Amino acid sequence: MSIEVNQIFDSNLLDQLDWTKHRAQYRDGISPSNLPPGYTIRPLQSDDYSRGYCELLSNLTKVGDFTQELFLKQFNQMRDSKLHYVTILHHQESDKVVGSATLAVEHKFIHGAASRGRIEDVVVHPEHQGKQFGKVLLDLLILLAEQTNCYKLSLDCNEKAMPFYKKLNMDFVEDHRFMCIKFFD
Ligand SMILES: CC(C)(COP(=O)(O)OP(=O)(O)OC[C@H]1O[C@@H](n2cnc3c(N)ncnc32)[C@H](O)[C@@H]1OP(=O)(O)O)[C@@H](O)C(=O)NCCC(=O)NCCS
Repeated sequence: MSIEVNQIFDSNLLDQLDWTKHRAQYRDGISPSNLPPGYTIRPLQSDDYSRGYCELLSNLTKVGDFTQELFLKQFNQMRDSKLHYVTILHHQESDKVVGSATLAVEHKFIHGAASRGRIEDVVVHPEHQGKQFGKVLLDLLILLAEQTNCYKLSLDCNEKAMPFYKKLNMDFVEDHRFMCIKFFD
């Protein structure tokens, strides 16, 4: 199937961020503005299905039977809504998507008609974990949330992942309780 290649959000938004204003501590000279050679951060593209995007997500949770057709349908809906900043890490040598994190933006009437941001679906492929890419993706989404007029940015995570998010100086909200109805798995 030949696919028209487009991005889920305008990559200029990433270019406009000041990548030096990161929150996490980095080592070995790595930072959002200085990735190891052969790795690029960019918006998710319509042809990333063939770059192993769904396999990557399966390291996070159940993906289900995800055809290219379904991927494109969902991609187009998310792109048209202009509320989903799916940001990926591309590995040049394998031509695979090896990391991803999403900023989902919800417009509000409160807080001066600002927006609320949520971080969703943070994952780095096991072969590329431990190289500071998780921190890089999160750092960029935090900058993007500020850029898109979010007054607040939050995420749900299990206890195991908390130390990772604390690296980004995110605060655990003690008196907050998460309520949920799950319709299917
Ligand atoms: C969590 C995850 C995204 C981290 O990605 P990563 O690229 O390996 O993380 P980094 O290399 O940027 O590590 C950042 C820091 O967090 C720590 N860290 C990483 N993963 C961690 C985890 N699962 N639990 C606790 N600490 C973790 C690292 O030790 C590192 O500390 P340092 O900066 O002092 O060295 C990755 O392990 C992953 O995809 N896990 C499976 C999916 C998942 O659980 N996603 C989160 C859902 S809420």
